[in-house]
Amino acid sequence: MTKWNLAIDGPAGAGKSTVAKRVADQLSMVYIDTGAMYRALTWLALNKDVNIHDEAEMHHLLKESDIRLRGPEGEEGIYVNGTNVSKAIREPQVTNNVSYTAQHAAIRKEMLRKQQLLAAEGGTVMDGRDIGTAVLPNAEVKIFLTASTDERAKRRYEEEIAKGMDSDFEKLKKEIAERDKIDSERTEAPLKKASDAVELDTTELTVDEAVNKICLIAEKRV
Ligand code: C5P
Repeated sequence: MTKWNLAIDGPAGAGKSTVAKRVADQLSMVYIDTGAMYRALTWLALNKDVNIHDEAEMHHLLKESDIRLRGPEGEEGIYVNGTNVSKAIREPQVTNNVSYTAQHAAIRKEMLRKQQLLAAEGGTVMDGRDIGTAVLPNAEVKIFLTASTDERAKRRYEEEIAKGMDSDFEKLKKEIAERDKIDSERTEAPLKKASDAVELDTTELTVDEAVNKICLIAEKRV
């Protein structure tokens, strides 16, 4: 098993999870989606009517919940207290509230601890907002993945249409910009490029091209 870690950060909809998953497969590493952890807690709070803006209540909820990035048989999926929430955590209601959950210092501290444990043995491709800056500041390879806001909204729009959902491009664009604003302006571990990360703008790149570029960068660094 490869023993180094790869951190991929960037704004909403830049293609991080698609690209990170493919890079992990190609390099025989384990993919860890840290956004899914914040989404899972947000989903639980919405379901239990816990006030997302109340840090103490949210912290209590996190402490008493079991969030896992694998199923009981080791299968892929996000599980909260034994329920598979992989689809539910992508619903607009979760997406539009998750940045409030992620603002709380107590929540971030706990998530950071869990994420560092997951990467302790190395061999992970971890994606998020603060991986290169806070969770894995010593990651051997760091990528900051970006794309124009228009392109990111277009990708989300096409994804939703392909799923047979009603979609509104302008609304998506506004929501993406709003989430980026909250994620970049928060006090705790805001979204920002680590000084030693390589920035990759995917606006004009296909998924294959982005994956290949990252694998090449990784090959040169480790
Ligand atoms: O990556 P994804 O869009 O699923 O992340 C959802 C949200 O979780 C982000 O908008 C951000 O508020 C939060 N997040 C974070 N730190 C991470 C990963 C995600 O604050 N490492």
